Amino acid sequence: MNPLIADPALPRDTDPPVIVALDFADADSTLAFVRRLEPQLCRLKIGKELFTASGRHLVEQLIHQGFDVFLDLKYHDIPNTVAQACKVAADMGVWMVDMHTAGGRRMMEAAAEAVANHAQRPLLIGVTVLTSMTEAELAETGHSRPLAETVQHLAALAQSSGLDGVVCSAHEAALLRQNLGRDFVLVTPGIRLDTEANNDDQRRIMIPEQALAAGASHLVMGRPITRAADPVAVLRSIRRPE
Ligand code: C5P
Repeated sequence: MNPLIADPALPRDTDPPVIVALDFADADSTLAFVRRLEPQLCRLKIGKELFTASGRHLVEQLIHQGFDVFLDLKYHDIPNTVAQACKVAADMGVWMVDMHTAGGRRMMEAAAEAVANHAQRPLLIGVTVLTSMTEAELAETGHSRPLAETVQHLAALAQSSGLDGVVCSAHEAALLRQNLGRDFVLVTPGIRLDTEANNDDQRRIMIPEQALAAGASHLVMGRPITRAADPVAVLRSIRRPE
């Protein structure tokens, strides 16, 4: 057994700030990378590409290795369909699952109700406005309010509909933290170790310490970890503020 892989029977007493985005094309390359990690150091995110390629089996394999898994499938459908999907995710043992807040109050309430009595209830997270969208693109979809206002509005709707938190840009974290309280979960992508370096396709970025200080609960990081020469050293260097 790989000594870096925790015995799933051992209790987890850490709350690592980073969720590593496993943006790999298939299960083999994912598992080869994850072999270098350990559950005390990070959580893992599986998105649409990897889930479509490798599905439930891979998710369950990673959970069995002791990792908390964020199933990032951004559900957006009628209330019953999303509620049932969240229930299946809970049965799989995922730690966090997300949906589009644009699906509305009834959809989010149905999802919350579907997992409420689950022994290991996953955290339910809402996506407000995708951070890839510009103000002009949002307006084109029929939203007349400024983007920042729409994000605040949808995050408040998510909270009052029973969700545990939202995905947001780190630039929105401080205001959301202030408006929605200390227990609301804020998951922030767009994190880079060096804001001067190559930022890939991310535009509004922040370094980990800044994002955590602004109120982020969890940092979603893909390439800064997956392409690092020593991913474990990078993960160890990122700490929550004292
Ligand atoms: O490699 P990088 O750190 O940019 O990866 C960020 C991850 O977060 C990717 O999986 C991306 O799909 C996801 N994400 C994002 N922006 C959002 C929501 C999710 O970058 N608004």
